[in-house]
Amino acid sequence: MTDVTFVLGTRPEIIKLAPVVQACHRLEVDYSIVHTGQHYSDSLDSVFFDQLELPEPDYDLGVGSSSHGEQTGEMLIGVERALAETAPEVVLVQGDTNSVLAGALAASKMDAELGHVEAGLRSFDRSMPEETNRVIADHVSDHLFAPTEQSKKYLLDEGLSERRITVTGNTVVDALFRNREIARRKSTVLADLRIENRDFFVMTAHRQENVDDEARFRDLLAGVERAAEAHDADVIYPVHPRARDRIETFGIEVPDPIRAVEPLEYLDFLRLASTAELILTDSGGVQEEACILGTPCVTMRDNTERPETIDVGANRLSSCDPGQIVASATEMLLRGDDWENPFGDGDAAERILQSLPLETKSREVAR
Ligand code: UD1
Ligand code: UDP
Repeated sequence: MTDVTFVLGTRPEIIKLAPVVQACHRLEVDYSIVHTGQHYSDSLDSVFFDQLELPEPDYDLGVGSSSHGEQTGEMLIGVERALAETAPEVVLVQGDTNSVLAGALAASKMDAELGHVEAGLRSFDRSMPEETNRVIADHVSDHLFAPTEQSKKYLLDEGLSERRITVTGNTVVDALFRNREIARRKSTVLADLRIENRDFFVMTAHRQENVDDEARFRDLLAGVERAAEAHDADVIYPVHPRARDRIETFGIEVPDPIRAVEPLEYLDFLRLASTAELILTDSGGVQEEACILGTPCVTMRDNTERPETIDVGANRLSSCDPGQIVASATEMLLRGDDWENPFGDGDAAERILQSLPLETKSREVAR
């Protein structure tokens, strides 16, 4: 029996749950890790366990890639079996992937209490699989760890009880504060990519609604190409395997100023993201990191579940329209970087653990 079982399965969950795992050591909370195997390529998975100094998962379900239903169904079966063995007081899931949906559904019908880290994010776009996942995870959770007051408000608007909600900040800040300086000292990525003395942009694009739609993906690349040419910048694009697969299937030639590279390790990505003139992305976590690092961001989507980044002036939505991408890039490059970080002070992980009803924690407090 453990106090906490983490259910995770993808790159962003590993990064954002790492601070909570590390806080378990500081607060003497006993834990186990169930890895669904949704991400399995080393570059999306084991490199993050190594770099973030996480222990091997106790269970690796090895589910891999398939359709949403098949993938989620296999994870549900595996997670339920694993949780029956770890018998935790609390199950923690983070974010909005299919691993989160499976973890949340399995835990919600078992004895354990369920905590959702990064609760209350909403794009209000149900065509995105992530929106379905986060809405369901929130509604079956006992503990909702909202990163901001805005996300708490969305939860209250949906009728969720205030008693279940704790505003904690986002654990992405904890991860970033812990690793930014290490990245500055250790990463050689700028020299490796020969961009030490160059203006450059970083781009990421991997979301289903963008890269699985050939016309949208081609538009997005054309927009980034034109923005790079307008500002005489190189663009570094670490290509997610989903996008790599689509590039090959559609026979797309990535335009010249965009340098397609393998997915980067976390420290290298942080170093690039903090040094870049501009970030162009459709990622959730990268929008937050750009905002916290003080790098202007253009989000190549029609909506964002991170409106705080727009409200503080760190981010702008461009859709995938090439003209809008160019205009947004120019506007953000002129914007400066004097905004406030809306995602908290880097103590989200400890706040999350402190608010869980754990036997261990009451022992700690009683001491
Ligand atoms: C998933 C999440 C998305 C998140 C992203 C983080 C869902 C519905 N989507 O998308 O919200 O932003 O993770 O990166 O959960 N593949 C590999 N190696 C891997 C994993 C995937 O090559 O380790 C390739 C396969 O071709 C696979 C494709 O990527 O079919 C998509 O993988 P999948 O896990 O279904 O979704 P992601 O696009 O990674
Ligand atoms: N990231 C990374 N290497 C890369 C691209 C991204 O380490 O080449 C990290 C980035 O720092 C961020 C996270 O991956 O913390 C975001 O994950 P992703 O974009 O895959 O998922 P999303 O946040 O959109 O769900």
